[in-house]
Amino acid sequence: MVYKIFEKNKYFGDLCNNFEKIKNFDIKDFFINNNNRFNEFSINFMDILIFDYSKNIIDKNTIFYLLKFIKEMKIQSEINKMFSGQKINKTENSAVLHTVLRKPENFNSSLNNLNINLEVKQSLKKMKNFSYNVINGTLKGCTGKKITDVINVGIGGSELGPKLVNNFLKDYRNNLKIHYLSNVDNNNLIDILKKINLETSLFLIVSKTFTTSETITNANSIKECFIKKFGEEKNIFRHFYAISNSINNPIKFGISKENIFKIFNWVGGRYSIWSSVGLSTMLSIGYKNFKKFLYGAHIMDMHFLHEKYSKNIPILLAVISFWYNIFFDVETEVILSYSTRLKNFVDYLQQLSMESNGKNVDRDGKEILYNTSQIIWGGVGTNCQHSFFQLLHQGTRFVSCDFISFVNNFHNSFANHNINLLSNFFAQTKALAFGKKFSKKNNNIFYKKFFGNIPSNSIMFRKIDPVSIGILLSMYEHKIFVQGVLLNIFSFDQWGVELGKSVFKKIYKCLKRNKRINYTYDSSTYGLIKYYKKWKK
Ligand code: F6P
Repeated sequence: MVYKIFEKNKYFGDLCNNFEKIKNFDIKDFFINNNNRFNEFSINFMDILIFDYSKNIIDKNTIFYLLKFIKEMKIQSEINKMFSGQKINKTENSAVLHTVLRKPENFNSSLNNLNINLEVKQSLKKMKNFSYNVINGTLKGCTGKKITDVINVGIGGSELGPKLVNNFLKDYRNNLKIHYLSNVDNNNLIDILKKINLETSLFLIVSKTFTTSETITNANSIKECFIKKFGEEKNIFRHFYAISNSINNPIKFGISKENIFKIFNWVGGRYSIWSSVGLSTMLSIGYKNFKKFLYGAHIMDMHFLHEKYSKNIPILLAVISFWYNIFFDVETEVILSYSTRLKNFVDYLQQLSMESNGKNVDRDGKEILYNTSQIIWGGVGTNCQHSFFQLLHQGTRFVSCDFISFVNNFHNSFANHNINLLSNFFAQTKALAFGKKFSKKNNNIFYKKFFGNIPSNSIMFRKIDPVSIGILLSMYEHKIFVQGVLLNIFSFDQWGVELGKSVFKKIYKCLKRNKRINYTYDSSTYGLIKYYKKWKK
């Protein structure tokens, strides 16, 4: 019943048989039986990245049938639909074309829409000119001073991608200081205002819709401060820019038309770092590095589009994740980044994965009776080794892990730290997979037992640079897309966030106007608001 949809696929039975055969195997058995396991279960991507998936509870047949299974689901046709601009975001009647944004100019692709190609070129040119002018000091603030700080005001996809990449490429940054303002909590605004000087700051109001309450509230408060200090509203045009799909809303806000950078309708918020939403990143690392970042994503796009499935990293990541989700009932995926530069990766991936695939109805509108997106969590190694790794090594929950690392840092100083960091990266995947043999001596010391058999993928890059981060993000985007196809859901909408927004509006009105609380509220919400009002006095 639960797996009705999968049972229709003629390879599901083979997968079930394979599962019955190997579900009680230990990862160490696979290695004992096959000296060549690493070579057979790893992929060297252009000498830039090694993807090792050998420490998983899979054998050759698992992969064989998983790949047959997705072929049967016509995955290639789904991939082609996305790349050629068909409207695969059905519930929003939109194409999904973030891959076009990273396509080098003059690159011949399956997308023949000349208008889109031209629009993308013009958008990139506008970003390039603007970033040159800000970085070299040609563009000045209303008092004639050079710009020193840029504040990205945006939330969700309008913040997470740019912030992640900007922090990852810290060593590539110029002198501009970039700040990210997302939460509506006034502490965030106050903290940033303390750090900046309004007359030398640019405000990028990033919102595809330009209606997102948090972003508009923050933007309005900054505008108020600005007008209070510089008096004239006309000064705003030197300091406020909009990055949006809407033209009217930014204009109503007071931003001049030429200060609007377009987000195309066919780019989803969580896939928008490659568009003008990436402007804060371009300002920080410069146009050339931003192009390298786009290039990294593009080469992964081409790998995903053309590589055979048995060597295709996003495809393998997706089917392995599906394997654990459907067959082993694994509910969470842990992302462990062995680089401080990647500290924002989990936040980014949570939106990418859970907003895309956290769905409870399938493409035919039927209620889903299997688990969809895994819960994504994790952190930075080595820090998390000293917090939640206890649960990974000896807890009762079965999780699967992705370990990510970079062999070369930007800095060569304190070289021993890098050796130490990478040794930890190798050690943890090994310890989790193989556990510890019980020696005669401590056989009966129950708390020193390590059963091992915790699966992980290792994703190890040669170095920290713009190309690597482009590859990494594109790789996960495609993994999540394939998972969506496997789960028979629409990955590119996010209707689940709407209810909270509409309930918020009603409560906000009531609090703002200090109106009587609506007695039809449930007693919990009613009781909490009553306390809020009492304590607010
Ligand atoms: O509420 C969810 C969401 O729509 C995300 O998908 C999006 O990234 C974020 O809000 C911000 O939306 P906008 O760019 O329209 O302000």
